[in-house]
Amino acid sequence: MTLRAQLDALPIPILQAPMVGASSFEMALAVSKAGGMGHLAGGAMAPEAIESAVAAMRARTDAPFGVNLLMAPRAQPDAAEVDRALARLAPWYAELGELLPAHPNEFAPDFESQLAAVVRAAPPVVSFTFGILTADQIDALHDAGTQVVGTATSVAEARAWAEVGADGICAQGFEAGGHRGHFLAEIEASLVGTMALTTLIGAAVDLPVIAAGGIMDGRGVAAALALGASAVQMGTAFLLADQASVSAPWRRSIQSVGDEPTRLTRAFTGRFARGIDNRFMRDLRAVETEVPAYPVQNRLTQALRAAASKADNPDMVSLWAGQGVGLARPGEAGDMIQAWWREAQEASAALQARVSR
Ligand SMILES: Cc1cc2nc3c(=O)[nH]c(=O)nc-3n(C[C@H](O)[C@H](O)[C@H](O)COP(=O)(O)O)c2cc1C
Repeated sequence: MTLRAQLDALPIPILQAPMVGASSFEMALAVSKAGGMGHLAGGAMAPEAIESAVAAMRARTDAPFGVNLLMAPRAQPDAAEVDRALARLAPWYAELGELLPAHPNEFAPDFESQLAAVVRAAPPVVSFTFGILTADQIDALHDAGTQVVGTATSVAEARAWAEVGADGICAQGFEAGGHRGHFLAEIEASLVGTMALTTLIGAAVDLPVIAAGGIMDGRGVAAALALGASAVQMGTAFLLADQASVSAPWRRSIQSVGDEPTRLTRAFTGRFARGIDNRFMRDLRAVETEVPAYPVQNRLTQALRAAASKADNPDMVSLWAGQGVGLARPGEAGDMIQAWWREAQEASAALQARVSR
């Protein structure tokens, strides 16, 4: 079955976004079982863990699901660069009473080994973010029976994925929470809103488009489908779900966000990501372009963020969330997608009544 046919056959065309640090196996399972498509966040997982999670999903449901990998570049920073970055972080670690970490030997899981594990595990769908595969890598996934989704933040990135043989495009608009997936142009050229991006990519490539960014309820789902999307991918809307694995200070920040804006920051990880503003982001804003590129800074701040979460201190936690965060509500993930789908049906009926007046 083509990816388009698989998406068309979904009872509810909602994909739960893979979210390292926030989604969970239980969330993906609940969403797939409720008629949407759950997504395992494989980005930080060891190859064996990816294989066993896919096997566990298969054992628990016949419904389709996806796995996501982050295409982190192999990092080989020089020791002086790591020293400078650690020196900048030293006061923050000290404030929490934590020892400054030693120079890590590894900065991110090895992508090639993760990809080999996905080929062996052969999930129904796999999506990729931060980079692009070769045609040979896509052929290997197709031979295993897996459909390939490429994340694009611009029309050029969508065209590039179409050229190497991807089956679908996840169009990640500017509104999206978490990391930006851009990989061709610099950040300023990769900040198209979901409404324009979904429509532009749909016109540019003959592939199903999955719209992501700022979709928080059924009205957003209906709007994205009206723009021609085959499905939507929602992340921030799941952050308060029962199955979310967000830490207590992060959850509280989401619940109390009020009218506060989210911002893009490079300070936590060395790659631009959207989150609720906090002291770490504000204090490092002036030097955020100088911190080592992802995944180096991500690795160097990992222990700091973990310690801050443990200490219930939101000042140094990466509070990833999208522009729609003020609309996030608690609930059970499977119930949430069913309620959103009912809302989408109501929204489209109301729209139908309006346009045919
Ligand atoms: C907390 C968080 C973590 C995320 N982690 C990932 C990830 O591991 N892989 C990925 O492809 N996208 C990740 N994303 C981005 C989502 O795939 C998606 O683009 C985004 O959530 C859509 O926008 P929304 O948050 O407004 O729904 C993450 C988003 C959030 C909010």
